[in-house]
Parts: sequence; structure tokens; C-alpha cells
Amino acid sequence: MGSNPHGTAELAGFKYRFVPAVQNSSRTLLLLHGTGGNENDLLDLGRSIAPDAALISPRGKVLERGMPRFFRRLADGVFDEADLLQRTAELAEFIELACRTHDRDPQSLIAVGFSNGANIACAMFFKHPNSLAGAILMRAMVPFQSQTPPPLNRKPALMLSAENDPIVAIEETERLAELLAGADADVTLQWSHTGHNLSQPDIVAATRWLEALV
Ligand code: MLT
Repeated sequence: MGSNPHGTAELAGFKYRFVPAVQNSSRTLLLLHGTGGNENDLLDLGRSIAPDAALISPRGKVLERGMPRFFRRLADGVFDEADLLQRTAELAEFIELACRTHDRDPQSLIAVGFSNGANIACAMFFKHPNSLAGAILMRAMVPFQSQTPPPLNRKPALMLSAENDPIVAIEETERLAELLAGADADVTLQWSHTGHNLSQPDIVAATRWLEALV
């Protein structure tokens, strides 16, 4: 990891940051940034919503006009589902290696994804549900158009969506919530009166949800 133990490292082809837990907390957050973000973007948010958790924060490997993403898209809101499938498998491999490298229990790993990061977290629920104990999905979209998730066995998912989001339609959010709940995920859908960007109500809701999670 070089001379700075908390600096950017690399594993399974992902650049990432790891921040250790405080006071032996067993919780780990997997932070997944939005388009144009990087491994540093969500560290403050992670610390704020789970002050004691370890943080694993990878940078998406796909570049769209220089902007990191976790998978390709064909147009705004139209995902390259073949690429998404492959990137989801790569992320599952990264998660396994990162947990082993940093001695974190994968059974306690909660994904916290924003926008493009929420979408790949959702895709994990569809394709590699055992890689995550749960997820906070901020401004998420339906990852695969004509597929349903496997049985999710009450896996907890907090969807933080916004009534005035110009990127994610209300109907799409409702469809995603139905798909996840239909696969028996334990879905909490919370709306804010905001747009696509994150705001204080998201932080408050995420903090409370994590506190209530056993
Ligand atoms: C984004 O700009 O990240 C989109 O809203 C979501 C996506 O393309 O995954």
C-alpha cells in the first residue's frame, strides 16, 4: 500500500481507499461513487453515517470522457447490460479480496452507492447477492431491464430517492422497489423533496437506518 497506509491502493485492478474501523467495529461500508467521482468522494459521507465502520472505497474502472464509472452506458439512462454483468462480477471479486486483505467479515458488508454506484450495488443484488449484507441505494435505477433478482431472503435495502430527480423517474424507482421487494428483500423506500444530488435528509435517513440494523 505504499508509505501511506490510508492512501490509494490497488487490488483486482481497482484503485481504492481503505479506512480502518474505529473501536473494533465489525461493520464495513463499501462506498460506490457516482459518475465522475473517485475513491475519495464518499469517505466523509461514510464516516458521517457510520462513525465506527471500516470503509472500502473503490474507483470505478470504466472511463466515460475521462469520468470514472462502474460500468458502461449506451446513452443516458441506457445501460450496457453485458458490460454491467462483467463489471458486477469484477466488483464481487474485488469485495472478496478486499475483505480478505483487510480482515473484514463479508457478512457485515453494507454497500452505500450513489447514482452510478447505486446502480452497480443494485446489480450486485441481482447477480451476486451473497457479496453484500445489505445496501443503501441513493438515486438508484433498475440495473437489468428484463430480469428479476434471485431470492434475497430479507436482505435489507434502503432506497433513498428524490421526487424531483431529473435522472431517475418516480416510476422507475417504484419499479425497482417492487423488483427488490418481490424477491423478498427488506426494502425501505424513502423519498425526499430534492433532486439527484445528495442532501441532508439522505444523510439523516442513512444514519438512522444503519443504527437500526442489527
Ligand atoms: C449517472 O450519471 O451516473 C446516471 O445517473 C446513472 C448511471 O448512468 O449509472
